[in-house]
Amino acid sequence: MPATVICLINQKGGCGKSSTCFHLSGALAQTGRNVLLVDADPQGSLSQGFFGSAQVEMLRPEETLAGLFEDQRFLSEFHALSVPTAFERISMVRANQTLARHNVPAPEQAGLNQYVLRDFLSQLAGYDLVLIDCPPNLYQASWNALLAADFVAIPVPPEDFGTQGLRVVHQAIQHARVLNPSLELLGHVITRADRRLLVHRSYESRLRQHYQETVFTTVVPEASAFKVALTCRQPVTYHAPRSRAAEVTSQLAAELLSRVAAKTSKREAA
Ligand SMILES: Nc1ncnc2c1ncn2[C@@H]1O[C@H](COP(=O)(O)OP(=O)(O)O)[C@@H](O)[C@H]1O
Ligand SMILES: [Mg+2]
Repeated sequence: MPATVICLINQKGGCGKSSTCFHLSGALAQTGRNVLLVDADPQGSLSQGFFGSAQVEMLRPEETLAGLFEDQRFLSEFHALSVPTAFERISMVRANQTLARHNVPAPEQAGLNQYVLRDFLSQLAGYDLVLIDCPPNLYQASWNALLAADFVAIPVPPEDFGTQGLRVVHQAIQHARVLNPSLELLGHVITRADRRLLVHRSYESRLRQHYQETVFTTVVPEASAFKVALTCRQPVTYHAPRSRAAEVTSQLAAELLSRVAAKTSKREAA
């Protein structure tokens, strides 16, 4: 069985894309799934979350996702690229600043490069799920992720500034479906929510009205436990298993898996 590939995308920074990938990978691994994380952001936040910034900054391009863009030869060198983390069943393709020069704004004009991540992932075996953490733009790295993915999840903080941005993300998904017709929206994940704030509650209800059942039932709250766990380089379900943050993360993992299962069986029936 090929792995289910999910990319987390939004053209804004600070939405909780990397944080969601980081913590979710822990909860998913704890359900017994083999998870591969792909850091597709030249900022390398997800890589730093697991390996620390000093180590990540020193990585040579061929030890990171950049290797795939630099030399097609690395397509088959997946053992060098996907490395184990300190956590059982979580491996990772890392990224650092060396990816920046490949993350060009007009991805379709870059020729073959747009399928490099898809080609790489298609030959990997042994993973149940691949989560791709995208940078805060819709350039080459995000485009590669959209063309490699089965599903896309959009982390969105419940604040108004996101509305215009979301439309652009949906356009990019529609656009990618021309080349990757099986790409499907898994849903919007409300992140960093503070339900004490009227503005957050009202944005959440407007988002649900507009996007209906594509909005995940599970809402990720703004909680210091996420930041503390990240600083300690542990997904929150490992670092603070009894915290509310861990409970919500496990719920999010369960909802994600059930959405994937429902959509996959619909596809198989079609
Ligand atoms: N639910 C949350 N609660 C508290 N802090 C969060 C939460 N989600 C993200 N953060 C923090 O906000 C910052 C930006 O989040 P990040 O996941 O890096 O966003 P993105 O990847 O979308 O740019 C990070 O410092 C992260 O630790
Ligand atoms: Mg990020």
